[in-house]
Amino acid sequence: MKGRVLSGMQPSGRLHIGNLLGALQNWVELQERYECYYCIVDWHALTTGYANPEVIGEYSKDLLLNYLAAGIDPDKCTVFLQSKVYQHAELHLLLGMITPLSRLERVPTYKEKQTELKEKDLNTYGFLGYPLLQTADILLYRAGYVPVGVDQEPHIEITREIARRFHHLYEVDVFVEPETLLTKFPKVVGTDGRKMSKSYENAIYLSDSPDVVEKKIKTMMTDPARERRRDPGTPELSPVYHLHKIFSSEQELAHVANGCRTAEIGCIDCKKILVKNVLHVLDPIWKRREELNHNPSYLADVIEEGNKKASVTAEETMSLVRGAMKFQ
Ligand code: TRP
Repeated sequence: MKGRVLSGMQPSGRLHIGNLLGALQNWVELQERYECYYCIVDWHALTTGYANPEVIGEYSKDLLLNYLAAGIDPDKCTVFLQSKVYQHAELHLLLGMITPLSRLERVPTYKEKQTELKEKDLNTYGFLGYPLLQTADILLYRAGYVPVGVDQEPHIEITREIARRFHHLYEVDVFVEPETLLTKFPKVVGTDGRKMSKSYENAIYLSDSPDVVEKKIKTMMTDPARERRRDPGTPELSPVYHLHKIFSSEQELAHVANGCRTAEIGCIDCKKILVKNVLHVLDPIWKRREELNHNPSYLADVIEEGNKKASVTAEETMSLVRGAMKFQ
């Protein structure tokens, strides 16, 4: 039998090429070899966005569009919406009974995100419970593998601990302790050299038009030592070079690196090659987004079918959980 994979993304806005390379492309490869469950975790979006819940539905639809446009194939895996599979809420509640508060307070993302999002009041039970809701997502499908970036490792660790605690308390093994499947490109830099992120306004979005992508790349930061065209530079100091490493061929990479060190090519020439390669990757995704946009009934069918399939697996696990807790 194929191993089982579960992963999810929050519908909290547009997706950028960092999400595409860091996660989605990996998910697409995994669907060939594993039994995959890909969730749109809309309840998670409430943990920080509870004051504006009205946008989450639209974002969820857009996320589904991006999943499919990037190549997630609903014939090969299960794509579903967390809030339509109530077992996530039930398992979250039950696991809450056995989870020490101090353990949740120790999760590094708790303090970090609270500091990062100072403008929001995140002194809520839901925000503290974020990693436990994620734990429920994963354990509910008894997934052995969770493809995520390094920043999520503390959440996979708490998932394993809670599974062990449950098994120890109720003396029966119902869950699978998951492993992290780290992605090849965990970190993609943005146009200013920092990590690509929505909050830094340095991202290239899947929904950007070709003109916008071109403009964003052409105004990207480069090695500050290359003030004039004839000044030689150090490619490693330029975020443009970092993106070349991801998007460009070996030959192109060698060409721009040498050209930069010897000042044989200028930054504009270097960026033109990057624009061409980024557009080449995004073009088929734009085309598919466009097609899918004209087919809302197909999207509705995909998610309904996925919700049904996910509910069957979730219910299997929940009946074991209720049994273990003598709550049948
Ligand atoms: N916390 C994850 C993130 O921010 C999203 C997520 C929620 C998730 N539930 C999950 C990821 C279950 C993997 C498995 O990226």
